[in-house]
Amino acid sequence: MLTPNMNYSHLKSSYLFYNIAQKTKAYLAEHPDTHLYRMGIGDVSLPLCDAVIKGLHAAADDQSKADSFNGYMPECGAPFLRTAVADYYRTRGVEVADDEVFISSGASDELGDILDLFDRSNRSLIIEPAYPAYVDANVMGGREIVHLPSSRSNGFLPLPDGDTDAELIYLCSPNNPTGAVFSREQLKKWVDFANAHGSVILFDAAYEAFIEDADLPHSIFEIEGARTCAIEICSLSKTAGFTGTRLGYTVIPKELKRNGMTFNDMWVRNRTTKTNGVSYIIQRAACEVFTPEGQRQIHENIAVYKQNACTLMQALDKLGIWYTGGRNAPYIWMECPNGMGSWDFFDKLLNEAQIIGTPGEGFGKCGEGYFRFSTFGSPEDTKTAAERLVALLK
Ligand SMILES: Cc1ncc(COP(=O)(O)O)c(C=O)c1O
Repeated sequence: MLTPNMNYSHLKSSYLFYNIAQKTKAYLAEHPDTHLYRMGIGDVSLPLCDAVIKGLHAAADDQSKADSFNGYMPECGAPFLRTAVADYYRTRGVEVADDEVFISSGASDELGDILDLFDRSNRSLIIEPAYPAYVDANVMGGREIVHLPSSRSNGFLPLPDGDTDAELIYLCSPNNPTGAVFSREQLKKWVDFANAHGSVILFDAAYEAFIEDADLPHSIFEIEGARTCAIEICSLSKTAGFTGTRLGYTVIPKELKRNGMTFNDMWVRNRTTKTNGVSYIIQRAACEVFTPEGQRQIHENIAVYKQNACTLMQALDKLGIWYTGGRNAPYIWMECPNGMGSWDFFDKLLNEAQIIGTPGEGFGKCGEGYFRFSTFGSPEDTKTAAERLVALLK
């Protein structure tokens, strides 16, 4: 008789966004004409930039003519885009070969699929509060998770210590949900740990483009020793508004080997078996992101979200509330006022200021007492929400 993957029965129901949706629905049923200030969303609100739109149109035209038509694309990515990504790394002094870059349909897909490279006996260390997909992908695969709670005392950026023990290590910097960013020195500690223990770091750099402090690393490959212990997973979702267009990239250095197996070769084999590549039209348009004009335009959009972050940070500064993130990340992680629980604070904000955020407890137990604001909303709503926050809590 067929046996389903029973690991799915160990998944916790994804109550976080469901609960938020239910509470919001109930509030709107009682107050149908109320405008809500949605600071919870992790989706972008600005459209694709002009350079990308032009790229999409031109690529669609290519597909209309026999001499420029493309069928199946190379499974690991179109050479023109792999080169563009490698060149992008080079702009910040990181040498990555074209065939170390793999084009994907987004970071979520890769974060789940990449586990194919590792035996099920490996334990996955996940720093909490965490992006929920890390936990769920490991539970689905029946993998043991080592939870590493973080806290205000370490700025939500824990480091390995004598007790740290895991074969796979998830690091997300800039972090979702806390917005905290590892410094070079901190990342070096993780890299040294991984090399000393034979572990592999899965480095999620989905928010690297939001870093503005020059001394903070955008890529783990800026750290000496990372090429023998890390895989980096990136996405254009937040960088360039590709949440609905879908494109990401993954870097696997050729030096990354264990037990005589080379992970880059294994991933080529995996991709050529399990995918038929990302659409030509999307890859062509994504290429525009890496041109000087594309970079200028995407940073114009990022600047809008950064202004939202400033607006919210100023409000929290005025209130004397502790927070992390915001400056180098599109999320702000604040301490709930007066020791409130994160769901109680959610209710208070919804009922008394019509603001929606995300309770920290939904990202892991140690997120209790904290709250996440996203800066991807409209500037008008963010400004009003910040004013309402100050009026409510002052
Ligand atoms: C930390 C982190 N990694 C990955 C992703 C997924 O990105 P993508 O849209 O490329 O699947 C997200 C999306 O919110 C995220 O917050």
